Amino acid sequence: MSNSVSDIENIIYKYIPTAKGYQQDVLSAMDYAFLAGGKRIRPMMMKLCFDMLSESLDTYDESVIGPFMAAIEMIHTSSLIHDDLPALDNDELRRGKPTVHVKYGEDVAILAGDGLLNYAYETAAKAFSIKPGDAGIEKAFAILASKAGVYGMLGGQSLDVVMTGKELSDDKLEFIYLNKTSALIESSMMVGAALAGADDTLVSKLEEAARAVGMAFQVQDDILDIKGDEAVIGKPVHSDEKNDKYTYATIHGIEESKKYVKEMSDKANAIIRGIAVKNDSAREELCSLINALIDRDR
Ligand code: IPE
Ligand code: IPE
Ligand code: MG
Ligand code: MG
Ligand code: MG
Repeated sequence: MSNSVSDIENIIYKYIPTAKGYQQDVLSAMDYAFLAGGKRIRPMMMKLCFDMLSESLDTYDESVIGPFMAAIEMIHTSSLIHDDLPALDNDELRRGKPTVHVKYGEDVAILAGDGLLNYAYETAAKAFSIKPGDAGIEKAFAILASKAGVYGMLGGQSLDVVMTGKELSDDKLEFIYLNKTSALIESSMMVGAALAGADDTLVSKLEEAARAVGMAFQVQDDILDIKGDEAVIGKPVHSDEKNDKYTYATIHGIEESKKYVKEMSDKANAIIRGIAVKNDSAREELCSLINALIDRDR
């Protein structure tokens, strides 16, 4: 079973809403953002964790994992639409294309972000009718909802915006990164595990690994904001500087940041290598993906 970006997109694209009816403007803005591309690492990690812990891949059933893979990418994409708004980071390029508010106007962009966030739950909920009463699906749905909210991604974004222009304590910086970025990566890996029927101990192990992946991921994002190539990252460089944001990279410098990214990624790998899995090749793929993120240029 291969898990390339196009394999992942083939799965998640099945769940996009059709832009028709009187809501067609907001629907086409939602689809525009969702289809714009991106690394798709969250649904990819979800699928790899699911594969890694599933009893048998012979009975692999996309109808349950598919809605959750689409849902996590919808939640992530909605966070990007809102993150780019004039009131937040005020950026005009995302995934190599004009941001949603540039293309559709700020009013439609705000609603498209809300629309995608809500549609994520409408989509994930489709899994309930496929396997009624399934404990793994119930657990996965609760994880998906809580990691996106005020005790997860949204909570991180909220401290990020109020701390704009202010010096960050280590504690606040960690809170922001763990929530705005790690939370959706935790969600991805934990949901994959829960759907595979993993117990709470195993799900918590993956949460710990994902927390480290998220920290590494955000610090590498900060590095790319300083020294990336706009044509490659598909979003503006120096957005953090423009917005007067303190980041791990501006506080500690590039060299120390790179060391930290490697350290956190090694930590995640060690945790993943320490758990008992059903499918070793999926574990290898997951560890390779995490390693590939260390030196990513986009
Ligand atoms: C960008 O996420 C926002 C952060 C959490 C740093 P990604 O770097 O995963 O963005 P896409 O999905 O590839 O566009
Ligand atoms: C935002 O962090 C993370 C989100 C929850 C969207 P950034 O503001 O650094 O993300 P980019 O660099 O715009 O993708
Ligand atoms: Mg931001
Ligand atoms: Mg931003
Ligand atoms: Mg950034």
